[in-house]
This record gives sequence, C-alpha cells and structure tokens, in this order.
Amino acid sequence: MKKILFETNKDEVQLISAKNLGDLFNSLAVDTKCCVVADKKVLDMHNSLREQIKNKNFELYEISNPEEEKSIGSYTNIIDFLDSKSFKRSDCIVGLGGGAVTDLAGFVSSTYMRGLNYVQIPTSLLSQVDASIGGKTAINYGKIKNFIGTFYNPSKIIICPDFLSTLNEQEFLNGFAEVIKHSLITSEDSVNKLIKKEEKIKNRDLETLLEIIEESIQTKASIVTEDFTEKGKRKFLNFGHTFAHGIESINLNRPILHGHAVIIGMMMALDYSKYLELIDIDVHEKSMKLLKSFNFDFSNIRLGADEIIEAMKSDKKNTNTINLVLLKDIGSPYILEEVNEKRLAKFIKNFIENFEQ
Ligand SMILES: NC(=O)c1ccc[n+]([C@@H]2O[C@H](COP(=O)([O-])OP(=O)(O)OC[C@H]3O[C@@H](n4cnc5c(N)ncnc54)[C@H](O)[C@@H]3O)[C@@H](O)[C@H]2O)c1
Repeated sequence: MKKILFETNKDEVQLISAKNLGDLFNSLAVDTKCCVVADKKVLDMHNSLREQIKNKNFELYEISNPEEEKSIGSYTNIIDFLDSKSFKRSDCIVGLGGGAVTDLAGFVSSTYMRGLNYVQIPTSLLSQVDASIGGKTAINYGKIKNFIGTFYNPSKIIICPDFLSTLNEQEFLNGFAEVIKHSLITSEDSVNKLIKKEEKIKNRDLETLLEIIEESIQTKASIVTEDFTEKGKRKFLNFGHTFAHGIESINLNRPILHGHAVIIGMMMALDYSKYLELIDIDVHEKSMKLLKSFNFDFSNIRLGADEIIEAMKSDKKNTNTINLVLLKDIGSPYILEEVNEKRLAKFIKNFIENFEQ
C-alpha cells in the first residue's frame, strides 16, 4: 500500500497586544464580513465596544450566560444567525469574552461551512493565558464539560490587559493560577519574576500584567506547538490538574473556580513529590510559598479523601492507572503513572487533614 505523509496543524497564529480598549477593533484588520460573538456582561462593562462594533458594521451575537450557553442549543442558534446573514467560508468570527465564549465561538468557527477565519479576544485572565492558546474548542453536552469539540487555531489572538480591570479579585486569581503553573513547569527565572513582582501583580499594574501574560502565553504556546494533540509534552500542562479534577468533581453542586482547585492540586502535587522524595525540600518550600502568597479564597471548597480518589480514578484522562504530573525541580515536570492507589489514598487523606482553608 502506498503511504502518503503530510504535516498538519502548523497554523500561524498572530498574537497582538492592544494597549487600550479604544483601538481594539482596529488591531483586527479584517476586510471581510465579521460577526462578533461576545459576552454581554463584558460589553456592558466596557461600553465603547458596542460602538466600535457598530462603526465597523460587524454583526453582533451576544451571550448572556457564558458557561450555560456553551451548549448545543446556542451553537445551532449561532449557526442559524450566521446563515441568516449569509456568512460564507471566507468571512470571519470574533470570539470576545472569557473561556466559555471563546470555546463556543471557536467551535462555531471550526465547523460552520467546514471552518472560517477565527479571531479571539479573550477578556478574562484565564482565557488570556490558557483557554485562548492551543486551539481547543468545545461545547458542553448533557452534564459533560467540553464533550464535543475540535482542535482549531484562530488566525489572531488580541490581548488587551484593560479588560482585567473589571474582574473581581477571585476571578483574577482564577486565571493567575495558570500563570503560576506555567512558571513552575518552565523555569526558575520565571518563578523568580513572579516572586519579585508580587506587589505589582496584586495591584494589577498594567505593564507588569502584560509582560507576565505574554510570558505565560509563550510557555503554553511553545508546549502546544511541539505537541498539538496532547500525546506527550502537552501533558505537563496538567500539573496539579488530576488532583484538581478530583476536587472539582466532588464540588459539582457548588461550582468552584477552576484555578482555585488547580492551586490546591499543585500543592498536593508538590507535597506528593516531596513524599516520594522526588523534589528537594528547599525547592518544595519555595514553590509552596509562591502558591500561598496570593489571596486565594478556598473557603467554599469541600475536600473529601475517598471521594477525591474515586473521582481521580474515573477521570476521562486516566486509563488504567492514575496519571499525575509531579515536579522534580522547578522547570522539570515528571509524569507518574501511579499504580499504588493505597499509597496515594493515604497521602490525600493526610493532606486534607492538614490543609488550612
Ligand atoms: N480551550 C481551552 O484550552 C480551555 C482551557 C481552560 C479553560 N477552558 C474553558 O474556559 C472556561 C473558563 O474560562 P473563564 O473563567 O474565562 O470563563 P467564563 O467565560 O465563564 O468567564 C468567567 C466569568 O467572568 C466574566 N468575565 C469575562 N471577562 C470579564 C471581564 N473582563 N470583566 C468582568 N467579568 C468578565 C464572564 O462573564 C463570566 O461571568 C470553561 O468553559 C473552560 O472549560 C478552555
């Protein structure tokens, strides 16, 4: 049989920093028809945006409840809307909002007429440093999050730190958890920068934020470029996440912020790395200190050892073993396929008994 080899997914994605919201849509530079799928709350908070969209003659589709509307129902509504406005494959969709909106708009873009030009304007810190990078699009299906989706890169991502001024402290920290994660799996320099700039970050100094966002994006982008479909190195991005998914699964009735579960998950991963004698004590201490320096509010998070381990076992990313991303050193993540469930269960129980909420 003849074998044909070809490379795919080497799309070029342009990252654009917009200094302020006033010229946001000028950085878009598209000369086709365009539909902005936007978070209504963000438009209400930053009211020059509606005017800019109108002045550009773009269509506007507003999302009132992002996570709820990341659904098959609103997916087909947007498809109908685009069809009613005669959108063609050569036209453009802009996703403007947090990760729920950009995931939904990305999924529409990748499937409408087999895919049209997609531009992302992420507005939450989580979407700027995480959800907008790596080409994963998704909608939820039934009770399963991100069950339907595609890998589809936008042509442009526009980052404007001005948006972050309207995030409340815990929503801001929700995204900052991913910034810390990217630093811990990348390099000591990156961790030292976060430690040095702690006060400026807390005060949301725009220049500092932009610098940190760009560096964090760079980390994720270089990992996903090497491993777009998550067969190898991309798994490092799950540092703390197996524990976090366990925590999230047992808190489904009281939605908690993902980043907060990830912070606890990273603390567990660091403690487990220490417990298994993989990491030096001083590296463990320095990393834990960074995780504890910011004002994450864990007060509404329920923790239960037996339930967490059950949830970790049924995590869709785990096969027969529980896959944990641990840390041997700052910048040196390590994947452990844990077969010793008893040891892990004992550790989790002990961690929870000593965890201060
Ligand atoms: N595609 C990926 O690789 C990826 C990665 C991580 C998370 N995600 C997805 O992203 C979503 C979580 O991201 P999120 O936290 O941004 O969710 P979100 O879109 O639900 O936004 C969270 C809240 O912040 C509000 N918001 C957004 N920007 C704001 C701003 N500038 N000012 C004030 N409020 C603002 C939203 O209205 C919402 O209430 C989930 O659906 C998750 O599955 C995707």
